[in-house]
Order: sequence, then C-alpha cells, then structure tokens
Amino acid sequence: MIKKFKDTITFDDVLLEPQYSDITSRGEIDTSSELCEGLRFELPIISSPMDTITESHMASTMADLGGLGIIHRYNSVETQGALVSAAETGGRIVGAAIGISGDYLERAKYAVDHSGAKVLCIDVAHGHHAMMQRAIGNLKDEFGDYVCVIAGNVATLEGFNDLADWGADSIRVGIGGGSICSTRIQTGHGMPTLQSVLECSQSDRSATLIADGGIKTSGDIVKCLAAGADFVLLGSLLAGTQETPGKVFYNQGRQYKAYRGMASVEAQINWRGHAASVEGVSHVVPYKGTVEKTINELSRGIRSGLSYSGCRSIAELQTRARFIRQTPAGQFESSTHIKSRF
Ligand code: IMP
Repeated sequence: MIKKFKDTITFDDVLLEPQYSDITSRGEIDTSSELCEGLRFELPIISSPMDTITESHMASTMADLGGLGIIHRYNSVETQGALVSAAETGGRIVGAAIGISGDYLERAKYAVDHSGAKVLCIDVAHGHHAMMQRAIGNLKDEFGDYVCVIAGNVATLEGFNDLADWGADSIRVGIGGGSICSTRIQTGHGMPTLQSVLECSQSDRSATLIADGGIKTSGDIVKCLAAGADFVLLGSLLAGTQETPGKVFYNQGRQYKAYRGMASVEAQINWRGHAASVEGVSHVVPYKGTVEKTINELSRGIRSGLSYSGCRSIAELQTRARFIRQTPAGQFESSTHIKSRF
C-alpha cells in the first residue's frame, strides 16, 4: 500500500516577507490579545504549567508584565491552591492547571472557589480524547462562563474543532515540539508546531489559539502570531530565570537552573514516586536573571516583528502576513553565520 505524505513546515523553514510600513515608533504597536471573552492581556505570552517554570512568583511577575502564568498541577490540591492564592499573587489574574482524571474536578473547584483562579488549563499531552470531552463538560457545568477554560494539547484542525465544540474557550496547539519533549522519539507521533498552528487557525470556531512547544526566539513568536496564534506558551524561553521554582546552582563558576519535561523520569518520580511512559528529559540551563529582562527582550522583538510586516496589532498581522519558504542555504544566511565562518 502506498501512503501519501503531507508536506509540513516549521519555524526555520519559513520567513515573513518584509512589507511597507508607516510605523514610526514601537510604541504605536498594540501587542494585546484576548484569551477568553472579556479577558485581555497586554502581551500574548503565557508561562507553561511546569514545575520548573510556573509557581506563585512566576505567575505574579507574568501578570505584572502583562502576560499570564499557569500554576502547574504536580502537587496536592491544597498546595496548588496555596500557590494560586499566595500573598504575592493577590489581586492578579492567575491560571491553574488540572488533568482529566482522578482529582481534577476537586482540584478545579479548590483552585477557583477557594483560591480565586480565573483561568483553568486542562493540561494533558494528548488532548483530542474522549476523556477531554467529559472534563470540559464537567467544568462548564460547574462554572459556566465564569471561568476561562483552556484545553489541549491538539495538533490538528479536527482536534481544535472538537475541543472548541466541547466548550473550550482557548486551545493549546502543538504536540511533540517542546524542547524537553521526547514524544516523537518515543511514539512516532506529532506535528511540527508551526504547521499545527497554521492548520488550526483555519478553524471557524471562536476559541482562541495558544501555540505551544519549540518556540526558541521572539522571531518564532512572531511567526506563531502571523500563522494565527493568539498567544504563545513558553517553557525553555523562560527557563533559568530568577522567578522559576528551584535553586540556582554552580558548575565550574557558572550559574544554572534545572528545566525538565513533566513526563521526564525525574519529574515523574518527584510527583508520583515512579516513572512510566517517559516522554521528556531533564536538563540544566544557564541562569538568566529576572524574567522581566527576558520578557522585555521578547516584547521588543514582537513589536519589531509587527513593524516589519507594517502591522499595528496582532489581528492585523494575522491578515496581512506573508510567509515564504527558505532553502537550507537561506536558513544558513538567516543565522548569525559569522559564528560558523571564523
Ligand atoms: P518549550 O517551550 O519548547 O520548552 O516547550 C514547553 C512545552 O513542552 C510545554 O508547554 C508542554 O506543552 C510541553 N511539555 C512539557 N513537559 C513535557 C514532557 O515531558 N514531554 C513532552 N512535552 C512536554
């Protein structure tokens, strides 16, 4: 049997064509984006619900910087609730992650009713699943439209539309692309993240789209937004900052922090005492200082990116942006190639 293969692209395969611009300052550019009806953020950036990325300190700082942080679910219901409602998060919009089995409903109720979470993120690796339909239904029965429900992850337009029809307000798009992810190696499944974003953005449903996994630079963020994402979810770009959980450690005089996949052996042993179906790795990254510095750099890159396409808003970028393919020679030219020549 001959199978047909679909041609797909990801970040480094494409560039955005520069277009006429009359923008005279980055200040004219509006980077705000709406996650759910009535819930708008100044920046289209969300910190990932991972135990080396988002607890109270990251979530409160992300809120102050105009984005959103989602507190991870790899802890007890009470511990997560305490992280959501900690003194430093007071009055800020914070998200909480939940699963689709076990204590997920109890976790959701505690995070919302007791701790004041305004956003719930149903955080599972393969979100296009019958159990997801039940979980979204139960959350909507419980909270109505009072809580913004993010669900995922999906890789395809069918997955996106199903989750939207089941009631998700916003959908995480991207399977297997995360920097600490080994899903594609382990299972042979996945889809290049930018391809998934391009396909899911064809949806006629009103759910918003969050691009997730493999985003390495502000240029990749701009490509996600141009492809139709309303937000990006970041892990590695925020890893190693001061506000991430965990201590700084020294190796040969240099400072590092840990960053690990939630399906890595190390993370699984930590939260449930044993490891099964390992689909992630644990790694160390250089310490980067405050997340404010990183977010400011990303924000400047996003604004410049919109300006190169002559656009003053994300919505404008989504309609006007023009992608082009680049060859391996083009990819080389796009890198800072002096480094490989001298
Ligand atoms: P990054 O921004 O490329 O580092 O990717 C972060 C994303 O990887 C997260 O937002 C999750 O969607 C995903 N992820 C987190 N942990 C794992 C894992 O252990 N295996 C596979 N994917 C993961």
